[in-house]
Amino acid sequence: MEEKQNLMDKIAVLCKRRGFVFQSSEIYGGFASCYDFGPLGVEMKNNIKKAWWEEMTKFQNLPNGRIVGLDAAILMSPRIWQASGHLTAGFADELVECKKCHHRFRKDFLEKNKCPDCGGQLTKPRKFNLMMKTFIGPVEDEASSAYLRAETCQGIYVNFLNVLNSSRLKIPFGIAQIGKSFRNEITPGNFIYRTREFEQMELQWFCHPKEADKFFEYWKKARLKWYLNLGVKKENIRLKQTPKKELAHYAKSAFDIEYKFPFGWKEVEGIHNRGDWDLSNHSKHSGQDLRFFDENKKEKYFPHIIETSAGADRSFLLFLVDSYCQVKGGRTKTTQAVKEEEVVLKLSKKLAPIKLAVLPLVKNKTELVKKAKEIYRLLKPYFVCQYDELGSIGRRYRRQDEVGTLFCLTIDFESLKKNDVTVRDRDSMKQERIKIGDLPKTLKEKLEK
Ligand code: GAP
Repeated sequence: MEEKQNLMDKIAVLCKRRGFVFQSSEIYGGFASCYDFGPLGVEMKNNIKKAWWEEMTKFQNLPNGRIVGLDAAILMSPRIWQASGHLTAGFADELVECKKCHHRFRKDFLEKNKCPDCGGQLTKPRKFNLMMKTFIGPVEDEASSAYLRAETCQGIYVNFLNVLNSSRLKIPFGIAQIGKSFRNEITPGNFIYRTREFEQMELQWFCHPKEADKFFEYWKKARLKWYLNLGVKKENIRLKQTPKKELAHYAKSAFDIEYKFPFGWKEVEGIHNRGDWDLSNHSKHSGQDLRFFDENKKEKYFPHIIETSAGADRSFLLFLVDSYCQVKGGRTKTTQAVKEEEVVLKLSKKLAPIKLAVLPLVKNKTELVKKAKEIYRLLKPYFVCQYDELGSIGRRYRRQDEVGTLFCLTIDFESLKKNDVTVRDRDSMKQERIKIGDLPKTLKEKLEK
């Protein structure tokens, strides 16, 4: 257990030291469970979102049915949240308070019926709504109140007709969206695992009611495969059915994709069969008919919805944990520090934040530095790439390994004569010499392999 906690601490330290994730508002003492993504973090998170977006909008092999995108507003009519059930008990956690220290806890997270902080007696549970409230305009009253969205999918449901009609789609089809969501979580924690502001990557698949079960199965498999294709170890990820009594208010049935984090098996994505809950409720509350009319069959019905709902921040943590390798005894034989433990982030090619590093063998030889900078300028427009001349070459390899850089290009004295560089592969550590003129093409091929 201690070792596992240690791993989370090591990852959090690496994230701060190398610019993946910072505590929000740090110079003001931090702001509880809010995080900022630094220069490497934003590259990696964008890579995750791009991998998801491309998977959804380009690479699905569904014979019928297209997937199109949407970017709806975060602020929406509060009537949407009334219709969706989020303002009622449907979207509330059960909260208990310690009578002695007044700390609050989610009841379903407690193992014993007493305060985990001081052992005090707990109050009876009461419902605590998770929607974040705000006010629109100059007056702060009920009439001007609004909510930050708690899930991105509501923006999709209320645009169902707009998308259907403007894109000339037929059932089945899907709408994909990536965006921020907000929940007033009572017990956030485990670094970026549970936060109050987070990003979701959601697909809503609209289908005929009779095909819902078939597509539910399809999406369960397709989503699990996405993580595996991005290099996640099979033994660390699984699908788990949600027991009936734990189903969200909108779900007829659900599976979670769970990952084996150092703090236990935890949900990273939900796959939900939402039935006609969303479209029928929005029809009722808005007075608009959101049924689909099938011209051929002369049939009018509420499409059923299969949802896949993943967290961008949660998958970010998953990919970090899964790729974090500690090599005891050292990998870099060229350094004196061979006995030190070395860290390699074995992130997949798609997700690694930096693809290449350009390193002159030594920094005090002007010709080497000049050549290395030339190569850096040549490659920078095509690849996310870093130039580094500080410290021994072994130390620089280690610095790149611990952030997952895929290839290190070293410019040595032979490079000046032969117009080539050595290219070191992060995982095999093998080096090969490649002509400078061939670098853009060869590296592109290597990265796409
Ligand atoms: N639209 C359905 C929906 O929102 P959910 O199971 O409540 O379903 C889906 O959330 C995903 O969103 C989760 O699996 C997780 O990846 C992410 N998520 C939810 N709450 C989160 C939080 N407080 N912090 C980070 N990610 C969260």
